[in-house]
Amino acid sequence: MDAPDQHNLVPRHVAIIMDGNGRWAEERHRPRLFGHKAGVESVREIVEVAREIGVAFLTLYAFSTENWNRPNLEVSGLMTLLKSYLQSELRTMLRNDIRLRCLGEQDRLPEDVRSVLRQAIADTNSCRGMTLNLALSYGGRSELVGAVREMARKCLEGSLDWNALSETDISDHLFTAGQPDPDLLIRTGGEHRLSNFLLWQASYAELYFTEIRWPDFRKQQFLDAIQTFNLRQRRFGRTGAQVTGE
Ligand code: IPE
Ligand code: IPE
Ligand code: MG
Repeated sequence: MDAPDQHNLVPRHVAIIMDGNGRWAEERHRPRLFGHKAGVESVREIVEVAREIGVAFLTLYAFSTENWNRPNLEVSGLMTLLKSYLQSELRTMLRNDIRLRCLGEQDRLPEDVRSVLRQAIADTNSCRGMTLNLALSYGGRSELVGAVREMARKCLEGSLDWNALSETDISDHLFTAGQPDPDLLIRTGGEHRLSNFLLWQASYAELYFTEIRWPDFRKQQFLDAIQTFNLRQRRFGRTGAQVTGE
């Protein structure tokens, strides 16, 4: 009999740091934006396969708070791509019952992107097949600062008791409020770091790093990551015997 940790489980929440677009393009002697464009095709494919196999929450790190420091031309190219992605994918999201959410400082995004985003979030609000979180202008530390600020305000107001603050209170004040923590966190592109992504939520995520650049990360590579996840034993601090019940 299979050990209980080796069932073919579909992780409930998969989070991905979509890295390596720039190097993918540079390796082909093309401008970085060419890599970002190719990366959009991977986004389409991964959203589709995630929905197909029954992932309930998919979080994609598309733009970090630190990415604002890139050259203006790259930032504006990324914003244009984002807008056209949202415009062209809305129908597919509705057809596939995908609810769109945004994690991040939406007010820092250009107004035209913000309005398309707002509309797509509103239009897909009653979809229940899968939640797609786009992390845009997202930073884990900034998210925590926002949560602490909001909790401090509520404590002063009297609607929260500072002495009784719990981990759940913190989770409830993050962009991911009401969602489960990621089970599997994938980073493509070969770097082994979190780059300010889901610092609180990823505390027990299984980490999966691959050299594959994001534009080359497609259905098969995603399924490989899930297969690897299924070979891991998640112990959450317990012993292996406790987990298997032996
Ligand atoms: C990830 O690819 C996409 C964004 C950060 C927007 P990069 O643009 O970081 O690609 P590399 O890391 O330079 O190859
Ligand atoms: C992380 O990638 C952010 C996204 C994928 C959106 P970066 O390329 O910005 O990360 P660093 O700078 O290599 O840590
Ligand atoms: Mg990068």
